[in-house]
Amino acid sequence: MKKIIRVLLGFVALVFVAVAGFAIFVSARGIPHYDVPKLDAKVAVTPERVAHGQAIVMASCADCHTNPQTRKFSGQLIPDLPAEFGKIHSANITNDKKHGLGNWTDGQIITVLRTGIGPDGRFRVVMPSFVHMSDEDINSVVAFLRSDNALVQADASPSAAQEPSFLTKALTNTVMKPTPLPSQVVEAPAPTDAQAFGRYLVVGRYKCYDCHSKDFKTNNPMEPEKSEGYLAGGNTLLNRQQQEVKSRNLTMDGETGIGDWSEGQFVQAVRFGMSPHGALSYPMPKYSLMSEEEAKAIFAYLRTVPIIKNATPEDGATAKL
Ligand code: HEC
Ligand code: HEC
Repeated sequence: MKKIIRVLLGFVALVFVAVAGFAIFVSARGIPHYDVPKLDAKVAVTPERVAHGQAIVMASCADCHTNPQTRKFSGQLIPDLPAEFGKIHSANITNDKKHGLGNWTDGQIITVLRTGIGPDGRFRVVMPSFVHMSDEDINSVVAFLRSDNALVQADASPSAAQEPSFLTKALTNTVMKPTPLPSQVVEAPAPTDAQAFGRYLVVGRYKCYDCHSKDFKTNNPMEPEKSEGYLAGGNTLLNRQQQEVKSRNLTMDGETGIGDWSEGQFVQAVRFGMSPHGALSYPMPKYSLMSEEEAKAIFAYLRTVPIIKNATPEDGATAKL
């Protein structure tokens, strides 16, 4: 009997040492560094790319990177990050040579967007990784960042130091990892193939699935369709006042999804933020530069996505539930 107790105590002590050791390791190591993948790229800046890049950036980057004081992409404290992750600031991505991207190569910008790894090797957290975005779209984003648009004109505010919580450090030392650089050219399907093009917009160009599936933690960036509750909403997000807002079910379920919506209603909701039940609010991005063709293609694709019944309390009228 005594021996068993001694063995058990020994075991408990061992577990304790292991857990304490892991905690000390994680606290001391912080957010990990990785080898920086080598990528030579030189993006030709054309007016078409700048305009196309602007449409993507206004939809997918502006909410996080615009500083309300400077009204430029000089970075800010992410206002809607749950407190458990600590304090994370988006970076200055204006053309400033010291504090922004002025001295970064195009390859370095593309690498951080695709993998999350910065030129110093540090893993950038909270920012989504744009793994499935086409090369042409990524190049257009870079072209916009290099343009003379007021949002990216050099601003000398330094990027703030990150204050990740223990949880964020633990996650980045275990499950949250950089995504790989694509090994071949990534091409978008032709817009004439509406369903394939729509899928691309949802998983590649705009990453609608990221917010509109069950939870960021169970999303699958490499194989988006394997994310839990793919496109059926319910992900708990915060607005700028740190109040909870659930993303909504975008599958074609008649009761809890958008199965009873017309194409026109959908286009109106996505491009102008007006759903049949009223205005859509932050963090649903503003897609005012999205074309009607894109919005229609997304609707065509959503018609092919497996239906999941998942009511969210904020699903327009509660009467729907
Ligand atoms: C959810 C918020 C969010 C979105 C959306 C977002 N970013 Fe970021 N971004 C961040 C945060 C936070 C960091 C800094 C992370 C860190 O230092 O760990 C960052 C860092 C960066 C960096 C690295 C800068 C540096 O100095 O380290 C670049 C470049 C960048 N973002 C560009 C973009 C572009 C382009 C888009 C849109 C295609 C985008 N981001 C979308 C939050 C976001
Ligand atoms: C940053 C997270 C985020 C992203 C990215 C996002 N959404 Fe949303 N979306 C939301 C939230 C949150 C709501 C609920 C807003 C509200 O309650 O006012 C919403 C609401 C909607 C609605 C209204 C549905 C209903 O039942 O009323 C539609 C349609 C929609 N989103 C489509 C899209 C499409 C299409 C994309 C990609 C092009 C997209 N969303 C990308 C967060 C997001």
